[in-house]
Order: sequence, then C-alpha cells, then structure tokens
Amino acid sequence: MELKRLGPGFVAEVRGAGLVDVARDNAIYRLVRAAFEEHSVLVFRDRKITDELQVAFSRRFGPLETAKAASLGEGTPFSILTNIDRATGTLVPPDHKEALRARANQLWHTDSCFKVPPALASVLSARVIPRTGGETEFASLRGAWERLAGPMQARLANAYAWHDYAHSRGKIAPHLASDREKTALPPVCWRIRWRNPVNGRDALYIASHTYAIEGMRRDEAQALLGDLIGHATARGQTYLHRWQAGDVIMWDNRAVLHRGRPWPDNEPRHMVRTTITATDADGLAEMWPVQGAA
Ligand code: OGA
Ligand code: MN
Repeated sequence: MELKRLGPGFVAEVRGAGLVDVARDNAIYRLVRAAFEEHSVLVFRDRKITDELQVAFSRRFGPLETAKAASLGEGTPFSILTNIDRATGTLVPPDHKEALRARANQLWHTDSCFKVPPALASVLSARVIPRTGGETEFASLRGAWERLAGPMQARLANAYAWHDYAHSRGKIAPHLASDREKTALPPVCWRIRWRNPVNGRDALYIASHTYAIEGMRRDEAQALLGDLIGHATARGQTYLHRWQAGDVIMWDNRAVLHRGRPWPDNEPRHMVRTTITATDADGLAEMWPVQGAA
C-alpha cells in the first residue's frame, strides 16, 4: 500500500490496497486505519464499488449509522444523495426537497454532529457524476485548531457548542427540516474541541449546524462561529475533489469540514454514503458536556 499526499496536507490517496482488501484482511485494515487517523481524508480512485462492498469496508471502522429521518435511505445504512427521481428516472426540479438538501450540503459541515452519538467517519462513493461541477471540498479542523492563537485555544478548550440539523436547513429554506425531522433530531451539545486519542491532536468541532456556544450571547457566538469556519476554510487551506465515477472518499468527521459544490440542474448526480458511528475509543468519551457546563 502507498499513500500519495494531495492538497494542503490533510488528504492522502490510497494506492495498492483495495476496499475489498480492507474488508477482508486485518493487517491491511490496520494500515488504512492508521492512515485515516493521520490524514483525515482518504481517497480511493476508480473502484468497482457496490453497496455490499461499501458496507463491508465501512463496517471495519465501527458500527454503522442507520440513516434517520432527513435522508433518502431512511432505515438502511445508506444515505443517498441524488437528483434522480427513483420512481420516474427523471431529474428533480430545483425546488424539490432533494435539490434543496443538496444546497444545504453546500454549506460547510461535518456529518452527524447533531446526532447522539455523532459520526466518526463518512464513506462517500460516486455512482453518477455530472460533466461539470459537483465536486466535494474539504478543510481541516485540526489544521484550524493548530493555527489558532494560544489565548483562543485556551478559551475554547473547555467550551461547549450546540448543534441542530434544523439550524443549517433553515439557512436554505424555512421548512426544509420537517416537524418529524425536528422531533427525531433535537439540538445536541458537544465539547468544541475533539482530541484524537491515537495521536493527541486536537480539532475544532463546529459546522453549519452549530448555532450556540454555552455561556455566550447567541449573536456573539454566531459571529465567533462564522469567524472560526472562515478561518478553517480560508483560501489555500482546502482540498477540492473532482469526482470520477467509482471514486470513494472516507473522511474523519472529528477533524474535517466538507461541502458539496453546485452543478448544472440538468445533469444527474448520484452519490451513496455510509456513516460510521463514533465510540468512546474514538475520543467521544471526552466530548459529553460535564455537569453544569450545559
Ligand atoms: C455528504 C456530503 C457532499 C457532496 O455526503 O455527507 O455532504 O458533494 N456530500 O455530495
Ligand atoms: Mn455531508
């Protein structure tokens, strides 16, 4: 297995080891797991991906999330991001719920910070891609933490932030999160710094879903969150992935932000995501609000 560094320093392409090898072979799994802890985003190019293989690969890294209310694929391990109407095979119009969800995915975010438990990682495979646009962009929240000045790190080290699915959806359309989704996904609070237990490196844990910081005025918190996301995603700090059908990307939701990029409404795009749940061994134990903090 070989790793080729891509982008500004937190992304690696995995060569010479297939998804199927990770699924079947303990030693190869351990190598890829170590690369994941180190690099935050792993790119596998040009794979013959199937739903079964994606699950077998993803399952290695931990328990899988079952897609909940708010994604196509509810009740299965697959979140389906598509503008192809399953019943008719035609493309959905721009005001369709799936088109609006795609726009919400174009806000910088980390997957499932609004869930309990949150996600360790996501695995996204490209099944149908548009001829132009539709890239996915990544930014390191570990790099962002490390570039913060000491006093800001000290201020945030024991801070807690609130995350809400409806908050990010509300930025796109007021009723994009339905009442059923809001009931299934109430606001949750996590520490704002996620420490990787393997290498001790800290990352900011914030996203477009984050709407408040414990003990701060709401408007001040939102201004600070905006500044921190701007700092994390500054020009020159991001990696833009131009998909080819068959590409598979795995990212560390504890340590990177990502966003989709727009593409023409008249082009199909179909992506399949599996999501791996974080456990205490992934550093989750330290993320819960302590008594009195939230
Ligand atoms: C996701 C996501 C963006 C994209 O799968 O979690 O945000 O480019 N995807 O499809
Ligand atoms: Mn996402």
